[in-house]
Order: sequence, then structure tokens, then C-alpha cells
Amino acid sequence: MLTKENLLYDSIRPVTWQDNGVLLLDQRLLPDEEVYLHIDNTQALYDAIRDMAVRGAPAIGIAAAYGAVLASQEAYDSDFNSTFNEKLDFLRSARPTAINLSNALNAARKVNNQKENLLSWAHKWLEDDILANKMMGQLGGALIKQGSTVVTHCNAGALATGGYGTALGVVRWAYQHNLIKRIYFGETRPWNQGARLTRWEFEQEKISANLLIDSAMASNMKQGNVDWVIVGADSICLNGDIANKIGTYSLAVLAKYHGVKLMIVAPTTTIDLSAESGDDILIEQRSANEVLSNASDTKNINVLNPSFDITPVSLISAIVTEKGVIESPNASKMKTFIASI
Ligand code: MRU
Repeated sequence: MLTKENLLYDSIRPVTWQDNGVLLLDQRLLPDEEVYLHIDNTQALYDAIRDMAVRGAPAIGIAAAYGAVLASQEAYDSDFNSTFNEKLDFLRSARPTAINLSNALNAARKVNNQKENLLSWAHKWLEDDILANKMMGQLGGALIKQGSTVVTHCNAGALATGGYGTALGVVRWAYQHNLIKRIYFGETRPWNQGARLTRWEFEQEKISANLLIDSAMASNMKQGNVDWVIVGADSICLNGDIANKIGTYSLAVLAKYHGVKLMIVAPTTTIDLSAESGDDILIEQRSANEVLSNASDTKNINVLNPSFDITPVSLISAIVTEKGVIESPNASKMKTFIASI
């Protein structure tokens, strides 16, 4: 049950700066343990991003923003610009699909590279992300009619961002405003962002929701009177195609077939100005060990583990950003929107 006390509950902060380093809530251990990692060098931050101690495109971007502060500390004793840029490029290579990582590092390059300047810029990057999420919560929430049933995928919540969440921010806002009748969320194999992280967030906030195995979503959508599929994005292309967690495309196709609307919720830091369409997005392939408990024991079996897929703009009903909503998006509406921000 929601109470007045937890109505505005928004205390999950997966990435912060503390004691001259980045403090990360280790998402590999949730929901069983809440352990924080203190990271004070770029190599350790690269490892934490690659190994998913921190994950979710906006959260990775924030970690990288603080990573630029660490990079500047490490660059002082050498040729500053070349070492600083080398370290930013190294961080950028940790995960290829989440464009927020690149966008944060490109923005860091433009900051006067004194450590204090970079640190206050990184704090602002984090604060702006939380504000953007709260704005998107309202803008996306306004599209939801009372009594709606929604589906979400992966974890696009506070844990995936600076706080509050993108898709889960919309779900949270609509739930708090009594617009939502029922929430379904998928396990999100193989890493179980849904079954572990979204579940943890719902439990923290006493939001009632239903967990499904991913392959049950089709039959559920057939029977479930679902109104909206609401998900985040790792990259939004210039034509409105998006990349998001593997399985998003399946949900989008299912949604189209069943007459369900698809809402993409992502801040403008997720727009990839270098990608004309989904064909330009590099999809991260992850280890077989995430799929099999002991991949080295397999014989004659190749494991495919793409971490993301592309959803074409034609399947999307609305893209919600903090700067506005693009309904029934297409390349021309995207162009007008991008020119306006
Ligand atoms: O592999 P992950 O857990 O980093 O993937 C996360 C997602 O795909 C999210 O849906 C996306 O980053 C948007 S999060 C606000």
C-alpha cells in the first residue's frame, strides 16, 4: 500500500561521488545484498561498467562523468590532454551500445579540465538526469488513462539512472496517481534485470506488480488487456529507431499485433546524433557464461547472447523525453524535435 511517506519515495541512488571516488551500488548482488563499491581509478571503473556492477544507459553515463574526474586525476603527471583523452576512450570501450556513455564522455571533453570544474560538471550531469526522469514521469504519466495495465521490461528504474528511473519513473508516477490497475514485468533473461532489479525496486516502494517469464508475455498480452508497453532505451537514432534490452523488439511486435501501445522513455542524453537509423547501432554481444552455467562444458554449441535489439520507429507509439513527447514518431518529427532542443 502507498502511504503518504512513501508516495514520493525516491531514495535509490546507484551512482554518487564520495571520498574522492565513485560509489556504486553493486547491481550484480541485488536483491540479496546491498553492497557499495568505492572506485578510485579508471581501470576499476571500466571493470565495474563492463561487468555490470553499474548498468542502465543513464547510470553508465553518470558513472562515466565521474570517471572523467578520475581520468583527470590520473592525467596530471603526464601530457594531460593525450592521457586524459586516452582514458576517456578506454572508459568508452567498456560497453558499446549505451550511447549515454559516449555522450557523457564527449561532454566531459568540453569542460575546462580542472578537477573542480569536472567534478561540479559531473554532479550537475547526475542532478540533471534525476530532474529529467521526474519530468518524463509526468509527461509519460499524462499519456496513461485511469485503470490501465502496463508491461515493462529489463530495469529502467532508479537503478538504471541517477534516480527515479525512465520507464519505471513513468510507471511509478502513474501508479502513485492511481492510474494503473496492473503491472507486468518480464524476467529479462539472461541477466535477470527484471526478476532481480525491477522486482527489488517495486518491493522497496511497496508497488504491487506481477513478474512473468519472458516467454509468457505473448499469451499474457493476448489475455491481459494490456494498454501500454513502457520501456527505456540505450540509444535513440535520428529516424526514431531505438536500441534497448534484448526482448524489446519482441515486445514491440507483440504490442503491434495485439493493438497495445509502445512508449519509449529516455532522456535527450540517449539520442545518438551519429546514428541515422538502427542499422548504425553496434549491438553488444556478451559472454556465453551469462546464458549457460558452465559454458566451457559445451560441445559443438555456439551461444548467441546479444544484449540489445533494435525496435524500428514504425512500432513506437510515443517517445517521451524530458524536453517533450513525440507521438507517432517518424524521421521528420524527430528532425524537428532534435532541432528544437
Ligand atoms: O544491460 P543493461 O542492464 O545495461 O541494459 C539496460 C537497458 O537495456 C535499459 O532498458 C536501458 O539502459 C534504459 S535504462 C533507463
